Amino acid sequence: MKKYFPGVFKIKDKIATLNNSPEYSVYGEKRVIILGKEYRFWEPYRSKLGAAILNGLKQLPIKEGSYVLYLGAAEGTTASHVSDIVGEDGAVFCVDFAPKVMTKLIEVCTRKENMIPIKADACDPQSFSDTVIDCDVLFQDIAQKDQAGIFLKNARQYLKQGDFGMLVIKSRSVDVVSEPKQVFEQAKKDLGKELEILQVVPLEPYEKDHVLILCKKK
Ligand SMILES: C[S@@+](CC[C@H](N)C(=O)[O-])C[C@H]1O[C@@H](n2cnc3c(N)ncnc32)[C@H](O)[C@@H]1O
Repeated sequence: MKKYFPGVFKIKDKIATLNNSPEYSVYGEKRVIILGKEYRFWEPYRSKLGAAILNGLKQLPIKEGSYVLYLGAAEGTTASHVSDIVGEDGAVFCVDFAPKVMTKLIEVCTRKENMIPIKADACDPQSFSDTVIDCDVLFQDIAQKDQAGIFLKNARQYLKQGDFGMLVIKSRSVDVVSEPKQVFEQAKKDLGKELEILQVVPLEPYEKDHVLILCKKK
């Protein structure tokens, strides 16, 4: 079967992951069985990482066995596909602070055993350091004003030299008045002091005024 990346399959021009919890859909996504294996379609309008893959992300640092710290996991939509990719030797530490998403997130984590729910504020990385036992990839998707600052704080705490980070920037959350282009340039500048920027992927038409920045710890 064709692949976008290891663990990310191409089925009729759609993306899909191998379901590690057969017969279970997380957000109503369709499932298909091919040669006895069950795949879950990955909906790019519901997932910024899915959108970035379809929009030409050149490298996916999330692999089988990766330990991923996921900030802004919400109800586990994207995190569940990350869980499929990292498999049973990997882990996805799912941080969110909103009580209203936790019930669903905990349900998903019960079905997908490599996902660990953490109710915490991403602005305070020290507060979840007891649970996050290791981290190879930092992923962040939170609609906050200081998105780059929060990401850097976590990168300082959790990433080792050569580890990867993926940051979704929603320009309207940072600054409603400035041009999105300006907001993205400023984010690149801020991150570039400590991280090597590898790629900036625009997420349109799936998400307006969003980019995903792929970077590496210097
Ligand atoms: C756009 S949603 C994330 C969607 C998710 N990444 C997905 O693709 O399935 C943003 C989430 O970030 C969470 N969030 C915002 N600020 C946060 C913070 N400081 N700490 C933890 N979670 C935060 C919100 O509660 C919300 O659930």
